[in-house]
Amino acid sequence: MATPITCIEDLRRLAERRVPRMFYDYADSGSWTEETYRANASDFVPIKLRQRVAIDMEHRTLATTMAGEAVSMPVALAPVGLTGMQHADGEILAARAAGRFGVPFTLSTMSICSIEDLAENAGYPFWFQLYVMRDRDFIARLLDRAKAAQCPVLVLTLDLQILGQRHKDIINGLSAPPRITLANMVNMATKPRWGLGMLGTKRRFFGNVVGHAKGVDNMTSLSEWSASQLDPTLDWDDVKWIRDHWGGKIVLKGIMDPEDAEIAAGIGAEAIIVSNHGGRQLDGAPSSIRALAPIVQAVGSRVEVHMDGGIRSGQDVLKAIALGAKGTYIGRPFVYGLGANGEAGVTTCLEIIRKELDVSMALCGHRDLSRVDQSILVPGTF
Ligand code: GLV
Repeated sequence: MATPITCIEDLRRLAERRVPRMFYDYADSGSWTEETYRANASDFVPIKLRQRVAIDMEHRTLATTMAGEAVSMPVALAPVGLTGMQHADGEILAARAAGRFGVPFTLSTMSICSIEDLAENAGYPFWFQLYVMRDRDFIARLLDRAKAAQCPVLVLTLDLQILGQRHKDIINGLSAPPRITLANMVNMATKPRWGLGMLGTKRRFFGNVVGHAKGVDNMTSLSEWSASQLDPTLDWDDVKWIRDHWGGKIVLKGIMDPEDAEIAAGIGAEAIIVSNHGGRQLDGAPSSIRALAPIVQAVGSRVEVHMDGGIRSGQDVLKAIALGAKGTYIGRPFVYGLGANGEAGVTTCLEIIRKELDVSMALCGHRDLSRVDQSILVPGTF
């Protein structure tokens, strides 16, 4: 009998066995020394929850809204590049699991499945994440494509004007599809499920970019793309231009500093996301959970504040909500679920987080997540 999956770490271990090394490593790494990547998760630990007793805990709800959209719990799937390389058709499977669960799936610009393909096959609305590239006509077309696909929310990433170095990607020669080298062949031969899935799908390239961006017909690597396409000149005027061209709900991702949060709040965004890109960009930045409270204090009355980075459990979600986040995002946890078990694995991931969040909230003496605040935390621990 297969060992039961009890927590996100179980999914991670299974994904590590089932996904080729270069794609597993791509998701499961941070930049340079990985100090910020590790701090994202470990800084949740010292924050302590107040256990309360003899309070009616029946009839609980986790339902709320994120960026004005109804969610069954405030945990969206974060945009993750190359999701379709963790498992064949990964974006479609994850979007379906999220849709069925009542939480948003966010499609990355650097996804394997294209916007149109996902719109046709997901069966649920999804959010779209944009990177700003040098080719502004391409950006305008991407926005129009997301609008045509009826994406209700645009997530604009602001912290990837240049790419932080991830050592493992260099060592592994990360590319999509993977290059046929002896090391890759040997590693992939030990991942038969993954290989069979990939043989059965046509989705093996960067679907939003290849064939759409000028001169990008056979791009295979993220580093190649970022060097040639990412726009290091991005500034707040560009953000306003994107806001105006989009004309719908916009969420600004990658805010780590109260001064930037002030500017972002003035842009008229629906929400901002406190995020250090999962510790993949500025190594040495504080963890997201440490950056959250000062930003909520600075702008929380004017704009919804969300966070991502380091969440590995429902208890972590509860702590982020207690510190003022109106919503959270999980990246690696759902990617582990996907690599471990496809769509069912993403559902398992969401079920694990929901149960942990629900029971932990109850044990803190609350029945409605939208009423949770800092008072559930032990003073002096946050
Ligand atoms: C791109 O978003 C990356 O972090 O690899």
